[in-house]
Amino acid sequence: AVSEGEIMGYLYSKGIKPDGVQKLSKDMVKMVCREYDVEVIDGEQVRVEDMAKKKEILDEDDLDKLEDRPPVLTIMGHVDHGKTTLLDYIRKTKVAASEAGGITQGIGAYKVQVPIDGKTQTCVFLDTPGHEAFGAMRARGARVTDIAVIVVAADDGIRPQTSEAIAHAKAAGVPIIVAINKIDKDGANPDRVIQELSSIGLMPEDWGGDTPMVKISALKGENVDDLLETIMLIAELQELKANPDRNAKGTVIEAGLDKSKGPVASFIVQNGTLKRGDVIVCGEAFGKVRALFDDKGRQVNEAGPSTPVQVIGLDNVPLAGDEFEAVDSLDVARKQAELRAELMRDERITEKAGDGKVTLSSLA
Ligand code: GTP
Ligand code: MG
Repeated sequence: AVSEGEIMGYLYSKGIKPDGVQKLSKDMVKMVCREYDVEVIDGEQVRVEDMAKKKEILDEDDLDKLEDRPPVLTIMGHVDHGKTTLLDYIRKTKVAASEAGGITQGIGAYKVQVPIDGKTQTCVFLDTPGHEAFGAMRARGARVTDIAVIVVAADDGIRPQTSEAIAHAKAAGVPIIVAINKIDKDGANPDRVIQELSSIGLMPEDWGGDTPMVKISALKGENVDDLLETIMLIAELQELKANPDRNAKGTVIEAGLDKSKGPVASFIVQNGTLKRGDVIVCGEAFGKVRALFDDKGRQVNEAGPSTPVQVIGLDNVPLAGDEFEAVDSLDVARKQAELRAELMRDERITEKAGDGKVTLSSLA
């Protein structure tokens, strides 16, 4: 019951000059709704499912310019069940051995070339930390992922974080592939793991279910090829697409402050192509991309869909899980970042007041 003119007037008063036909950003919609006491379901409340399905990542304009993009996989599971070891084998490196206390501390993102049927195919892996304290990060990990690979140690079975990981994947609506790991170990009982999985609703294909389960040894590399083949098969069914020819959009995987480089953020580009010199807004931060680095630390000029990339040039450290977007000018970026900061401040106040609102962090 509010006139268009009134809303335009309100937007003008906030320094936003809509031209009458443009779409309003989510943040602007929130501002307007708050002004008129209208409830809006969005932002942190956006259901993880919707994010994961990337409904918001693709626009209508993209539809006739879509190209295939590599799948983004998240490896999840209980502490020490072998997630990093599996990724090491796939990448043929030795990350697990050099980690502090053998526990993964951040979300690593890697682009991997997988040889399948004589061709190489690209996929992107996210290695999420398995420790309970990192539940929040894992919850965010599910937003950007196309497929969840749940690692379960055959000598240990389903543990609390296995169930948690399965719940995250289910909530995100992404296909689940189970890697039953450590089958080389004495005391490994993969069939008991399958039994346990089926008791919580994950049925193997052999039993008429639809959850692929592959018995592997990440340490020895046994059956890892089968696992990769299964992954690529499931990925193909998803027909993953993006439009490389547009301004970049995606999600922050991790971010921190580097003594010499300033704020450093790892992104997954989900649509469009991020280029050096682009102006980006990223949560409450904004800036001009000064340099881009690939997952091997090499400087690159651009990063297309499904590419993990490290970015310097932001004015502040964003949060893992924040979305980023390339925009037309520093002016626009600054305004959007300010809007976002204002909204977050309000949300924190409402959260403190304890109105029972559910946010992603309170879920984790
Ligand atoms: P967090 O990052 O702490 O959650 O652990 P993770 O799941 O990444 O486990 P990680 O890869 O660090 O492996 C934990 C331990 O299990 C290491 O000592 C590995 O060598 C061992 N391990 C992993 N996979 C296998 C396997 O297939 N067989 C055997 N025998 N040991 C394995
Ligand atoms: Mg690990």
